[in-house]
Amino acid sequence: MANVHILDHPLIQHKLALIRDKNTGSKDFRDLVEEVAMLMAYEVTRDFPLQEVAIETPVATATTKMIAGRKVGLVPILRAGLGMVDGMLRLIPAAKVGHVGLYRDPETLQPVEYYCKLPPDVEERDLIVIDPMLATGGSASAAITFLKERRARSIKLMCLIAAPEGIKAVEEAHSDVDIFVAAIDKQLNDHGYIVPGLGDAGDRLFGTK
Ligand code: PRP
Ligand code: URA
Repeated sequence: MANVHILDHPLIQHKLALIRDKNTGSKDFRDLVEEVAMLMAYEVTRDFPLQEVAIETPVATATTKMIAGRKVGLVPILRAGLGMVDGMLRLIPAAKVGHVGLYRDPETLQPVEYYCKLPPDVEERDLIVIDPMLATGGSASAAITFLKERRARSIKLMCLIAAPEGIKAVEEAHSDVDIFVAAIDKQLNDHGYIVPGLGDAGDRLFGTK
């Protein structure tokens, strides 16, 4: 089974409450999604190995630690995943960014691929797939499958809000992928929206509704 990590840091939870609020407008929504993504990046990278290094301080040599040559790839699922990229890049500035374009057919709720552009050395990178919403899990599962078809070997999934149905779907399809979320909500409604959720993440980020 995949490992599910709920990131319950008070700052993440507080900002997530503001993100959920229907009275939060696009600008604040965007800023908050970026901030929460940055805070989540801190936890998602917790298992990165360290190596000892010698650093010259103004006073003496310090034997200290740095991240051991990790190559990271961020893979936002278009569109809404884009809202989380800049926050993560603030903490992992050397990461390369690949894009997977998927939308959910509103009738069937099945993911439809329309774009895929990844760093060429995808198999050498620790990939973090990012999307605010894990609803049925169809989009995330499909994105992870694309990455595996392109020889990716290390993949994590990071979402703001998940439905139990989405977690189950990803766990069943990709038991090797750790899932990081800020909250697991109650259920999906008949239109495949997470309840209570935050509404349509893409529309709220980009003001398209
Ligand atoms: C949303 C969201 C996820 C997907 C989740 O994208 O950003 O990608 O739905 O649903 P699922 O788990 O049931 O697949 P949407 O399809 O609305 O596209 P958009 O980001 O372009 O608005
Ligand atoms: N996509 C969204 O943007 N919101 C949901 O609640 C479900 C899928």
